[in-house]
Amino acid sequence: MRDAIAHLPASKIREVANAGLGRPDMLAFWFGESDEVTPEAVRQAAAESLLRGETFYAHNLGLPELRAGLADYTATLHGPMDVGRIVVTSSGVSALMLATQMLVGAGDEVAAVVPLWPNLTAQAQIMGASVRRIPLRPRQGRWGLDLDELRRAVTDKTRVLLINAPNNPTGWTLSRAEQQVVLEHCRRTGTWIVADEVYERIWFGDDGVAPSFLDISTDEDRLVVVHSFSKSFLMTGWRLGWMVLPKGHLDAMGKLVEFNTSCTPVFVQRGGLAALDIATAFVPALVQRLRVCRDLLVDGLAALPGVQVARPDGGMYAFFQVPGQGDSLAFAKHLVATQGLGLAPGVAFGDEGEGWLRWCFASRDPSRLSSGVARLARTLGL
Ligand SMILES: Cc1ncc(COP(=O)(O)O)c(C=O)c1O
Repeated sequence: MRDAIAHLPASKIREVANAGLGRPDMLAFWFGESDEVTPEAVRQAAAESLLRGETFYAHNLGLPELRAGLADYTATLHGPMDVGRIVVTSSGVSALMLATQMLVGAGDEVAAVVPLWPNLTAQAQIMGASVRRIPLRPRQGRWGLDLDELRRAVTDKTRVLLINAPNNPTGWTLSRAEQQVVLEHCRRTGTWIVADEVYERIWFGDDGVAPSFLDISTDEDRLVVVHSFSKSFLMTGWRLGWMVLPKGHLDAMGKLVEFNTSCTPVFVQRGGLAALDIATAFVPALVQRLRVCRDLLVDGLAALPGVQVARPDGGMYAFFQVPGQGDSLAFAKHLVATQGLGLAPGVAFGDEGEGWLRWCFASRDPSRLSSGVARLARTLGL
């Protein structure tokens, strides 16, 4: 086995979850998904596709009608979009891997803004690259990027900058002004930006969508934007995503898809088309439900003496600190064992997250969140 694979770290979220999965009294908030099922219209469309017998191989790049639908959807959010830049993938994480395979080789240097969902940095490591970490810094629970630090870390040797905003786990989101600086700097150094924008619609600001690199870039910039149906349409188990490439990269990406998955299942793509059909009504209503969850959880945590937590503008996580708990993995396991409370340890997102915990607040029943906060309070002796 290649050393790069043998040395990949195992998921610390899984390590915590394995200790509690199957416990009947468990209140689990460790994974990044809601407990709400996919909308019925989406399930119906996929079921009908299967009944019609759509069970065959299909286009590498995605069904033409889904790619066209995604181009329209992107255009309503970010302005004109050429369908010749859109590729459907079997999940957001697969889109990230394909982008990494396209751009990163052994010995390359990749930079990543962290803490970060660990899959992005692991993919670069799988390709044999080294990863330079650019830490976000917390101030009173809210995380921010030091642009000078980023400018120092991203040089003409940096092949790719991995940036996820709204960020999992911290909720940090690049402002438009910061985006501009990052894009201009990467243009100067010749660095590709892989922008993970899967949480762009889980956004509590005014516009219904977080700032995107697509708003300020051209179709010739070295930019790959990765998206997913998982979060905005409650479709985690479907494994459906897409990416936006610069123009002229479709043929190369088609080959990569061929050698990875060959295509995304047609019935899954039919579900994706149905999701786009209901997006205008469905997504804002979902965000409204998530806003209730976010506020309930953040207010509950903030009321516990000593707990540091900020209200995230985007994403579906509260990232918070409990006084005196420096070892997040041990504390998360303790919470599972003693309270049946399942949270993700901050260290799962890199050493920068050590001492923090991530709580996914996406829940059909917000009272589960209050019960969870009560369990945490009990552990803290409150
Ligand atoms: C930051 C980030 N990017 C990408 C994904 C991938 O989503 P999926 O593979 O379900 O499409 C996730 C899922 O948790 C995520 O948190």
